[in-house]
Amino acid sequence: MHLILLGAPGAGKGTQGSQLAERLGVPKIATGDILRGAVREGTELGRRAKGYMDAGELVPDELILDLVREALADDSARQGAIFDGFPRNVGQARSLDRILLELRRRLDGVVVLDVDDDVIVERMSGRRTDPETGHVYHLVHNPPPEEVAVWVVQRPDDREETVRHRLTVYHDQTSPLIEYYEQTDLPVHHVDGTLPIEQVQAKILSSLNR
Ligand code: AP5
Repeated sequence: MHLILLGAPGAGKGTQGSQLAERLGVPKIATGDILRGAVREGTELGRRAKGYMDAGELVPDELILDLVREALADDSARQGAIFDGFPRNVGQARSLDRILLELRRRLDGVVVLDVDDDVIVERMSGRRTDPETGHVYHLVHNPPPEEVAVWVVQRPDDREETVRHRLTVYHDQTSPLIEYYEQTDLPVHHVDGTLPIEQVQAKILSSLNR
């Protein structure tokens, strides 16, 4: 199954994507995670992407498409993938169609996590990540275990001002993808992303008949 998770920054794509990937036995392809890894390792990609990420801007498409092509060509993705944070604009969506066509595969659906902007700002201020495992927590809604809580970190782009800018970028460049996919014959499932994490997962699975 090839499934796109769409939603604003902080809508829960990463949280739901990890659970879904495990459940469906396919990898999660999260371009944000791959880019953050490259920044941490100080690679050429990381150096080129960092400024855009810290400012809450999208990284140029040409830096993203090779990452996705490579991840999809990996053996682990032979049965499909969950796309988290990709595509981010109509150009990337068209490129994804071309890449999948080259691989003789196709998308199976899109899940949109609906969450209002005010909820997003609250969520991002409470988000913490375990730098060792990449596991994502929330100080109130999904607190880290005591032994992990001492070293969790806040993402540099989760400051309120940057979050608000990322929301503007989302509304301008990414949310038009909802209409883009609704005009195709792909199923587009809207799920209320403000429900508790387990209920969001259950709703996604039932919308996929799983
Ligand atoms: P990326 O890493 O993709 O960030 P994003 O889309 O802004 O999404 P987030 O990771 O912030 O949020 P999420 O929806 O995964 O939510 P999460 O599950 O963590 O991108 C970062 C940057 O990289 C971009 O700004 C851009 O520069 C660049 N980039 C990445 N991909 C790109 C691309 N394709 N093209 C160009 N540039 C690209 O949840 C958030 C918090 O809420 C957590 O604390 C979580 O525990 C909590 N939470 C989750 N669900 C719930 C719930 N139901 N109830 C309560 N709390 C919840």
